[in-house]
Amino acid sequence: MVQSDTELFAIIADEKERQNTTLQLIASENFASREVLAATGSVLTNKYSEGYPGKRYYGGNSVIDRAEDLARRRACELFGAEHANVQPHSGANANLAAYLAVLEPGDTVLGMRLDQGGHLTHGSPVNASGRLFNFVSYGVSESDERIDFEALADLAEKHRPKMIVAGATAYSRVIEPEPLRKIADSVGALLLFDAAHIAGLVAGGAHPNPVPFSDIVTFTTHKTLRGPRGGCIVCRQGLAQAIDKAVFPGLQGGPLEHVIAAKAVAFHEAMQPEFKQYSAQIVSNARALAGALAAQGFRIVSGGTDNHLMLVDLRSFDPDLTGRSAQEALDKAGITLNRNQIPGDPRSPFVTSGLRIGTAATTTTGMREPEMIEIAELVRRVLADPGDELVRAAVREEVAALCSKFVPYP
Ligand SMILES: Cc1ncc(COP(=O)(O)O)c(C=O)c1O
Repeated sequence: MVQSDTELFAIIADEKERQNTTLQLIASENFASREVLAATGSVLTNKYSEGYPGKRYYGGNSVIDRAEDLARRRACELFGAEHANVQPHSGANANLAAYLAVLEPGDTVLGMRLDQGGHLTHGSPVNASGRLFNFVSYGVSESDERIDFEALADLAEKHRPKMIVAGATAYSRVIEPEPLRKIADSVGALLLFDAAHIAGLVAGGAHPNPVPFSDIVTFTTHKTLRGPRGGCIVCRQGLAQAIDKAVFPGLQGGPLEHVIAAKAVAFHEAMQPEFKQYSAQIVSNARALAGALAAQGFRIVSGGTDNHLMLVDLRSFDPDLTGRSAQEALDKAGITLNRNQIPGDPRSPFVTSGLRIGTAATTTTGMREPEMIEIAELVRRVLADPGDELVRAAVREEVAALCSKFVPYP
């Protein structure tokens, strides 16, 4: 086939150049391996395979069935699960499918507050979850900025939810699944653990596995797990049929079999001994970066991190500096991250007083603690005078020099 779309492929080349030459610190991103990319870009994209292995609505699926079966088997093995559905196109779809499988519209559910680290799909009024179900929010305690389990238990007692949703998108501490199970059991609720962010840390043994304690675990495959962009659901065998029916035909149409194949590759990679070291290194790097930023005068929410991310409260460094202006200034200096509300943030979600910083992607490139300390210094220099173009240009050059030693896609 003649490749004639030079316009589009030039854009892809530009994006590869951006990823190779600037610092990727967005906590939900990573660099997928060549094999993951190869599977994602394979001929499997051509095949329609509505249904599940052995029960398809289209012919010609004997080969596809092998790929999806392999992905399902590996997901179960990796997380010690009884059943896996690897078809969700995204984490949001995985969550919605899980809700559709076990809830009725109007049912009461407990989920973490969006402005304290929860995800849109955990009951935000602008998301289908918040429109279809009666979500009640729990949060972190003011004193230590960690999930307030006592308050959560009180809310469960008061509202008698059908389900408790655990997991977060901007929370830097271990979320212990066992106390959550106890609270769920005390009120007869189901427990859904959304491990979107930490799936790779669980797979690598750096965080406790929520699967033995949860009825359903959803996760994304593209964050710490370092696979293709997508979602996955694992559950007890007793919920397998309901989950499968909710994903298809309940929510989605034809599965993305090329992405499912790439998920299988990622699960295989996560089973290797090196992945254990990788996930431990992500956490060590996050701790090094948080420590170095704290030493520069930035307050780290909850005082530190146990995972791949940290929330930085900019007010201790400069009370007038917003998350939005910090994100924009750092972006111009080649440092990519996102603004984020911090617990009790007086500023809106669009402006914010904080930044969310993650270490999964830089760890994939081989960066270690010394580079984290260097990154903290680069961040400080830009944010000390976010309007200074000369500083931004100088830092951008230093970022490029640093990245040239750790190129994700040479
Ligand atoms: C906790 C959590 N759940 C679900 C999602 C949704 O994943 P996706 O963006 O693939 O829909 C995210 C994404 O950031 C997340 O952090």
